[in-house]
Amino acid sequence: MGKILVTGATGTIGRLVVKHLQRLNAAYLAGTRKPEGENDVYFDFNDPSSFEKATEGADKVFVLGPPLVLGLDAIITPFLDFLKGRGIKRIVYFSAYQADKMKGLDFHPKLEQKVKDDGFDYTILRPTFFAQNFKNYEGDNIAQRNIIFMPAGDGKASFIDADNVAEVAALALTQDGHSGKAYELTGPVTVSYDDVAALLSEITGRTISYPKPGNEEFKSVLVSSGAPEFIADYLISVYGTIAAGNVDSVTDDYKKVTGKEPTPIRKVLEQDFA
Ligand SMILES: NC(=O)c1ccc[n+]([C@@H]2O[C@H](COP(=O)([O-])OP(=O)(O)OC[C@H]3O[C@@H](n4cnc5c(N)ncnc54)[C@H](OP(=O)(O)O)[C@@H]3O)[C@@H](O)[C@H]2O)c1
Repeated sequence: MGKILVTGATGTIGRLVVKHLQRLNAAYLAGTRKPEGENDVYFDFNDPSSFEKATEGADKVFVLGPPLVLGLDAIITPFLDFLKGRGIKRIVYFSAYQADKMKGLDFHPKLEQKVKDDGFDYTILRPTFFAQNFKNYEGDNIAQRNIIFMPAGDGKASFIDADNVAEVAALALTQDGHSGKAYELTGPVTVSYDDVAALLSEITGRTISYPKPGNEEFKSVLVSSGAPEFIADYLISVYGTIAAGNVDSVTDDYKKVTGKEPTPIRKVLEQDFA
């Protein structure tokens, strides 16, 4: 059996996929632009000269594109074309829940279609918003300003533990029976940003509030704090799916694959903020 190349292996999801592959005793290569560890291989979607060596000995690939990249399809497509040419058919493509509803961001649906059209032996993962986003993207707001600040309105999402998502990825990469499937991965319940602020207040013992910024206010705060305009637009598109009520739902795909209940958001927030 060949190895599994994990792209995005140093990120939130990828490092947990690696953890689960280790637990399952699967042979893997960890793709990163800065290889340091024993199983690390140099891999950069923007550097096609890295593809050949990074896939040496691999017969399966976990394909995860970096976040906050407009036109992600333009940087992932050459790699998918390379895999096809090299005859590596088995891939797990990392998409997003209700990605077709994100206004102006159509790269995940386009890449899902490409994976299907190109004849890959694919599994598609469509996770909803990660519970870890509060630490990863709002850690400073919570620690320094006692707020969470995304343009999510009064909408709800079923935030999922990144570890649950990675577990499904690792199983799809190592077990039979996942070919041609798309898994929609959510947490157990939907909550609003007000609900999360209340949970964070309980966990931290401080009052964390949600000022509920509109899109214009959100953009002007981000841009005046030095963020590029396109980042604000990207986040407005993504979090707009919460505001519009498009992700106010739960599925049981995590349980179908693992036989377990997904982790409650409270547990992740306790790990990250208690
Ligand atoms: N956050 C959410 O709620 C959510 C929900 C659903 C789907 N998603 C999807 O999840 C993905 C992001 O996953 P994540 O949160 O785990 O990302 P992350 O923590 O930001 O990590 C990004 C990874 O991508 C690698 N990377 C960055 N630029 C690269 C390049 N040019 N070539 C190769 N690798 C590169 C980084 O590795 P090195 O720096 O080591 O190279 C890192 O391992 C996106 O596709 C997003 O649409 C996110």
